[in-house]
Amino acid sequence: MLVLGVETSCDETAVAIVKNGRKVFSNIVASSLHLHKQYGGVVPEIATRHHVELINFVLDKAIKKARINLPDIDLIACVYGPGLAGALLVGNSLAKALSFSLNVPFIGINHIQAHLYAALMKEEPPEFPFVGLVVSGGHTNLFYVKNYLNWKIIGATRDDAAGETFDKVAKILKLEYPGGPVIEQQAKEGDPHKIRFPRSYLEEKSLDFSFSGLKTAVFYYISGKKTNARLSSSAIPEDVRLNDVAAGFQEAVVDILVEKAYNACILKKVKHLVAGGGVVRNHKLRRSLTNRLKGAGIKVHFPHQDLCQDNAAMVAGLGYQLYKKGIRSQLSLEIQPNLL
Ligand code: KG4
Ligand code: ZN
Repeated sequence: MLVLGVETSCDETAVAIVKNGRKVFSNIVASSLHLHKQYGGVVPEIATRHHVELINFVLDKAIKKARINLPDIDLIACVYGPGLAGALLVGNSLAKALSFSLNVPFIGINHIQAHLYAALMKEEPPEFPFVGLVVSGGHTNLFYVKNYLNWKIIGATRDDAAGETFDKVAKILKLEYPGGPVIEQQAKEGDPHKIRFPRSYLEEKSLDFSFSGLKTAVFYYISGKKTNARLSSSAIPEDVRLNDVAAGFQEAVVDILVEKAYNACILKKVKHLVAGGGVVRNHKLRRSLTNRLKGAGIKVHFPHQDLCQDNAAMVAGLGYQLYKKGIRSQLSLEIQPNLL
């Protein structure tokens, strides 16, 4: 069964063709990231305009690369939330128009669930049930997943998402957007134990996250290094070793994510943790999660690096699995920017 996936929830315009949920024929992603860099974050209006300009081109490319014709497609799957309203509208308009004109079913896909499905696009995916950890720019969630139709949120961030914290701390450190990759790069040359930033584990049994205190701690660490004469200056003081700050900060984020994921797996008595989202590209996080959970006999599953960021292959893949379970969406399905 050939599924065409569409994803336009944020700054990536993406279309993919996937066979039977796992075989990726094409996975085209056009990012507008370069247009947002100067603003230090995604500008919804610019992202939306970029989707409108590129979506047909991306669709054509996905069809050509897959060496198929539009009438070969059996199902259309598209992210209908969470995401930016204007951006979601572009992808959903395309997906619904294709579904109508080709006379094939349409399924609306949850963006966060698709990030977890990305790790299942392998020859031997883990068995249900599993705990899912989604760490992206907008979300930090723990799920208990019984099957494709049963996703229960068991932990969420109470303030900033982990990726958002990387981005905001990068801004404090005068590094470029997005913060995750640059902080990881800086941290490679740093000592993660030189500066101990606070870890917020919240109440003992809570699986929720909180990162805003950590972000503030980095801000005060930098401000504290400024002499009176330089207090008004926005420059980073000369005696601050950015590498050590980045390494200490990354260590704190990773410690929190690993501890909560471990607790969730023990609580739910599962043998598999499935991770997804942009922050899961981080090598330190991958190593720490794998090592800590291995001790308890829990296997950690990550998506291929290309499937961590927003893409449409994971959307098409999950669409196939839901279709097999009898799910269909009406063309009247509305976008849900705040869907969880
Ligand atoms: O999943 P994603 O591509 O988009 C959203 O749905 O949000 O995630 C983007 C986030 C950004 O906050 C970015 O800084 C973060 O993922 N990120 C990373 C790394 N690469 C991207 N965070 C930490 N380490 C990385 N290597
Ligand atoms: Zn995403």
